[in-house]
Amino acid sequence: MKLLNIVGARPNFMKIAPIIHALNNYNRSAKRPIDHLLVHTGQHYDEKMSKLFFDDLNIPKPDIDLEVGSGSHAEQTAEIMKRFEKICLNECPTHILVVGDVNSTIACALVASKLGIKVIHVEAGLRSFDRTMPEEINRILTDAISDILFITEDSAEKNLLREGVPNEKIFFVGNVMIDTLLRHRESAKSSLILNQLGLKNGSYASDYGVLTLHRPSNVDEKGNFENILYALLEVSRKLPIIFPVHPRTRKKIEEFGFTKYLIQEPKVKGDKTGICSIEPLGYLDFLSLMSEARVVLTDSGGIQEETTILGVPCITLRSNTERPVTVTDGTNIVAGIEKENIIKKSLSVLNSNKRDIPKTPPFWDGRAAERIVGILSSFE
Ligand code: UD1
Repeated sequence: MKLLNIVGARPNFMKIAPIIHALNNYNRSAKRPIDHLLVHTGQHYDEKMSKLFFDDLNIPKPDIDLEVGSGSHAEQTAEIMKRFEKICLNECPTHILVVGDVNSTIACALVASKLGIKVIHVEAGLRSFDRTMPEEINRILTDAISDILFITEDSAEKNLLREGVPNEKIFFVGNVMIDTLLRHRESAKSSLILNQLGLKNGSYASDYGVLTLHRPSNVDEKGNFENILYALLEVSRKLPIIFPVHPRTRKKIEEFGFTKYLIQEPKVKGDKTGICSIEPLGYLDFLSLMSEARVVLTDSGGIQEETTILGVPCITLRSNTERPVTVTDGTNIVAGIEKENIIKKSLSVLNSNKRDIPKTPPFWDGRAAERIVGILSSFE
């Protein structure tokens, strides 16, 4: 097997890290090691969106960087395809491994499958059933052309079988993102971010919420974005909300004139209220911030999973989730983007004294990458 591992955007990095570590572990004692290279498409390129994660997660420098950068969906996908095809022709891999649902995932999968290279998809089968999400299109198409599909939860198996994927291609291995979380949970405790933000005095962390927003349907639509901010301003009268701002969201805040809703000063002291915008954080700082939060409000997919394992209530600012196990077993509440509902759900979390102890979804145990490599080695 000659394997190209692909990453492109921020949520890919925490998924690939444990796979690379598991491959290297396997190779140390394997009679027939798995030859593997890391390809970064360059979809995300800012220091805070990319390099910081390589450093925090100890991911080796990519062997190949396609440096595609930003663009419209068509431009970005096409550019990745053009550049990745050349790599495949030079390197002649037998397999490529893609993770998640970003444009880099589908672009590389499509190139490989047309060259007769086997496609391995990690985090296959998740469905929001909302085809207005670019990620849903990426998921459906990637799964349709994948040869080996690794899944994180039961719902994914049902979705794939319904779409006609043969059972023998599907492997329930657990969640590599949770491998990374469990591996770094302890070291994240040394992060100084809570002190830097004035959220911690000695060992005592004050009450605060965390917000992340970057879905085009939430931040590119002025009305929706403003609605969410109005709701959260209301919630932030009860507790300050820390908002690490994604670059696309930052641009929209400026374009729509929404800086007036945000506190730019990153220190939340005493009884200060409001939504406080800060720069995007690295993995360890963000894990530390999430771990101690009273509530996390987000439109991200991965954060719904991470909060489930951390036992922190998560309010999802979307009308659906492709990760239903985080609702049935975890701490996730899908609140939609109606102002009244966001406020109601948030206040009910804040007013509740007891925290339900979430169940750990099956196989979210820190060993998913090991299982993946075990299965891959059996195909040799
Ligand atoms: C992408 C993924 C999304 C994922 C998210 C995580 C797709 C279709 N979307 O969305 O599924 O949840 O990453 O962050 O693949 N930009 C920068 N610096 C960067 C990267 C982006 O400034 O390093 C800005 C650019 O203006 C760019 C915009 O952000 O046009 C959007 O970036 P893009 O990669 O197209 O999509 P994301 O919104 O980041």
